[in-house]
Amino acid sequence: MTERLALYPGSFDPVTLGHIDVLQRAVRLFDRVVVLVAAGAKAGFWPAEQRARLVAASLAADRQLAACPIEVFEGLLVHEVERRRACAVIRGIRSAGDYEQEWGLHGVNVTLLPQFETVWLPARASLAAISSSLVREVARHGGPLDGLVPAPVAAALAAAPPR
Ligand code: COA
Repeated sequence: MTERLALYPGSFDPVTLGHIDVLQRAVRLFDRVVVLVAAGAKAGFWPAEQRARLVAASLAADRQLAACPIEVFEGLLVHEVERRRACAVIRGIRSAGDYEQEWGLHGVNVTLLPQFETVWLPARASLAAISSSLVREVARHGGPLDGLVPAPVAAALAAAPPR
């Protein structure tokens, strides 16, 4: 049987406990999940390579998650789906607002590549308020990051807080 490969793309600026929870659930649904860190999607805080390193450090303690390849990508997501023969793209949804945005993203992607599939995973309620920008704001003011981000991200933000 062909491998069921899914891609989990995002800015991960930085990766949060919400992202980790989505990934944990995605690896149970597919044979392999590749985490794709977008290089040019937003005016990011950290360069993509550093964001990818922090994703790797955050997954290292979990044997199943540590097996997920993490790669930086640039350009269109549909090209990654085609090139890697992925059967689905994973996205987490925290709210109706996320859904609206994701619906638009899916619509464009499916127009570009008709076989494009998105699997939306609802955020765990206890993690649904977390966003990367709020994490950066807490870090900027020296607030505690427990319960928001994995330990390697908290350490990196404490060492070099966003300005
Ligand atoms: N728990 C916690 N937070 C979550 C979350 C979850 N389950 N799911 C999403 N988020 C948050 C993130 O923290 C982030 O917060 P922020 O807006 O404050 O930064 C936000 O939701 C979304 O970030 P992220 O999940 O990292 O992804 P993204 O929306 O930045 O990624 C791409 C978008 C990369 C998938 C998209 O831009 C893309 O495909 N780019 C390539 C170009 C392309 O093909 N575009 C589409 C065709 S036009």
